[in-house]
Amino acid sequence: MTERTFSIIKPNAVAAGAVGQILDAMLADGFRIIGLKLVCMSRNEAEKFYAVHRGKPFYDRLVTFMTSGPSVVLVLEREDAVAGLRRLAGATDPAKAAEGTLRRRFGENVTRNAVHASDSVENAREEAGRFFDEREIVVARYAPPAVEAEDGAC
Ligand code: CDP
Ligand code: MG
Repeated sequence: MTERTFSIIKPNAVAAGAVGQILDAMLADGFRIIGLKLVCMSRNEAEKFYAVHRGKPFYDRLVTFMTSGPSVVLVLEREDAVAGLRRLAGATDPAKAAEGTLRRRFGENVTRNAVHASDSVENAREEAGRFFDEREIVVARYAPPAVEAEDGAC
């Protein structure tokens, strides 16, 4: 079934200039980009985003990392998008991630692991809602129109 998922290209991958390569890999894997923006996460936003990990030994390091520079937030659509993006991302620790996965290619360590991939459809919706208004998700006219779209119609 067609699903939506949510992803973040984390600050280390943005700083390394890997945004294009990561988007290419997502597109090559069949994902349609239906939401895309550059954000600088505040400490409060990062703490809330990762609230499930509050109290864990890596929490402060993670929040500091996620606020260290711009990230790219993405809403992606595909068949089986949630599981598919988790597969493309690879294991949390880049050293344990399979060859060819995004975390293996662009991750530096378990914290600076290049990408986030939501772990369920419900969490994807909730996480995307933190960064996108409904009208910033573009689905209606995703395929290039044969004639120029009317103003605002895409
Ligand atoms: O992102 P994923 O769902 O694979 O892993 P998680 O267990 O939900 O952890 C969320 C994020 O916390 C990871 O993507 C890492 O950036 C970070 N983390 C960490 O810094 N140290 C760990 N031991 C585990 C996770
Ligand atoms: Mg997780």
